[in-house]
Amino acid sequence: MTPPFENFTGIVEPGSLEARLLARLDPHKLPRHVAIIMDGNGRWARQRGLPRVKGHSAGIKAVRATVETSVRLDIPVLTLYAFSVENWKRPMSEVNTLMELLKEYLRKELPEIQENDIRFHAIGRIHELPRSVRRELRHVEQESRFNRGMKMVLALNYSGRAELVDAFNSLLLQGRTRRVSETEVQRSLYTGDLPDPDLLVRTSGEMRISNFLLWQIAYSEIYVTDVLWPDFRSHHLLESILAYQKRERRYGGIRSRSLQGAR
Ligand code: FPP
Repeated sequence: MTPPFENFTGIVEPGSLEARLLARLDPHKLPRHVAIIMDGNGRWARQRGLPRVKGHSAGIKAVRATVETSVRLDIPVLTLYAFSVENWKRPMSEVNTLMELLKEYLRKELPEIQENDIRFHAIGRIHELPRSVRRELRHVEQESRFNRGMKMVLALNYSGRAELVDAFNSLLLQGRTRRVSETEVQRSLYTGDLPDPDLLVRTSGEMRISNFLLWQIAYSEIYVTDVLWPDFRSHHLLESILAYQKRERRYGGIRSRSLQGAR
């Protein structure tokens, strides 16, 4: 395998689907930020006659595969939507299981996070999460704070509208009385120091944004796959990036060829 995909050498079998997808990827057009709505855990479990929570625990394998592949690709930022403000409406037992899974994931994954130089950060109304979850989150954030590799962002108790409200309130609390600019609002978001997602992936086929990164995805390319989150693996991520690379991003402008024609 030629650089810059050399991180896959010895990991990906020559001739495999992943190897073929990597060969088609343009290393110079990788997204700087990939955001993912991990959906379909419940349906995955139902299809197997299992309780919904089994779908969530199976979803952790997909999280691992996605993080690992993003690191190997040198994607600078990966944001995963793990728990929304609206998810509190689910049965208490399901919410509790999600919180336990999250703590277990953080405890088990810290060595991998360190080994892969990942800088971990949680966004959302973190102060409303149970104390034991906050403690694990803070621990991983603290331990990984000097890492220089991929930024892994976990959206927890997150809502795009709540994020905007929090951003405006933080501006008000700073004593802001004059009009604010787009840059000031952007910097006040939870993601104020991150580039906007270039690619937004949603699994399980639903054509919805579900209150995720509402401001930040203004010009993101959206990729929806029917694959249920627990089945999502490295090659699915590579497929989404390949689809992204085929898109023509215009940011409200017109195609460069048309532009020449208009001159
Ligand atoms: C949506 O599927 C998924 C969630 C609400 C939780 C996502 C959690 C995980 C992937 C596991 C834990 C994550 C980490 C990072 C440790 P759904 O339950 O809404 O599925 P459905 O639409 O099929 O019911």
